[in-house]
Amino acid sequence: MAELVPAILAKSLTEFEAKIRQVEDLVDMVQIDVMDGKFVPNETFNEIDKIAEVETSLKYDIHLMVADVAGAIDRWSGLNPQRITFHLEAVDSDKIEEIIGEIRNLDMEVGLAINPDTDLAEIEPQLAKIDFVLVMGVNPGFSGQKFQGSTLERIKEIKKDHPDLKVGVDGGVNTDNAADLVAAGVDELAVGSRIFTSNDVRAAVEEFSRYIRVTITK
Ligand code: DX5
Repeated sequence: MAELVPAILAKSLTEFEAKIRQVEDLVDMVQIDVMDGKFVPNETFNEIDKIAEVETSLKYDIHLMVADVAGAIDRWSGLNPQRITFHLEAVDSDKIEEIIGEIRNLDMEVGLAINPDTDLAEIEPQLAKIDFVLVMGVNPGFSGQKFQGSTLERIKEIKKDHPDLKVGVDGGVNTDNAADLVAAGVDELAVGSRIFTSNDVRAAVEEFSRYIRVTITK
């Protein structure tokens, strides 16, 4: 069954911790959005030492929306994440193997993200080498954007050629498109605003549970 992965886009330590506390009893893993203001026109709270002090049982997928991928891996691996996901568009094609190797050497899962305008042919050569592909439903940088419908066909195409590869979707995911996304074969749904702008986060997460595995523990 597909898994719900709340996306934590935080501009302060207070916001980061608040979002962690809102979902830590509801899911297993969250995606931490890391934005540098260069690869995307937005910046997130990136003081890793302070984030590391936030105690939680949640697993982390670090979603690097940054230009300096290698440097960010060095810094963010200190949180001991389950997975590090970087963008195909941020790395020269002759450097991708090296980056994948760096993450593997850290004994972390390797995720590769692809933006809506990037042709799937560009990521095809990498798919056999990674653990997870994150298909963006929006151009990354902001929460609350409109889901691009072409994303469904892109997920189906990847799943058809790589049925065992874990596929996630991120950006514009809500309870209106969750069923179609699950039917398209997606394994993980990263959700930001549909959960965190709700005045009842637990209810918002439960609303997804018709389509997605949520692990409500308390
Ligand atoms: C792209 C980020 C997403 C975003 C998701 O900007 O990678 O994770 O925070 O937010 P929603 O679900 O609101 O589109």
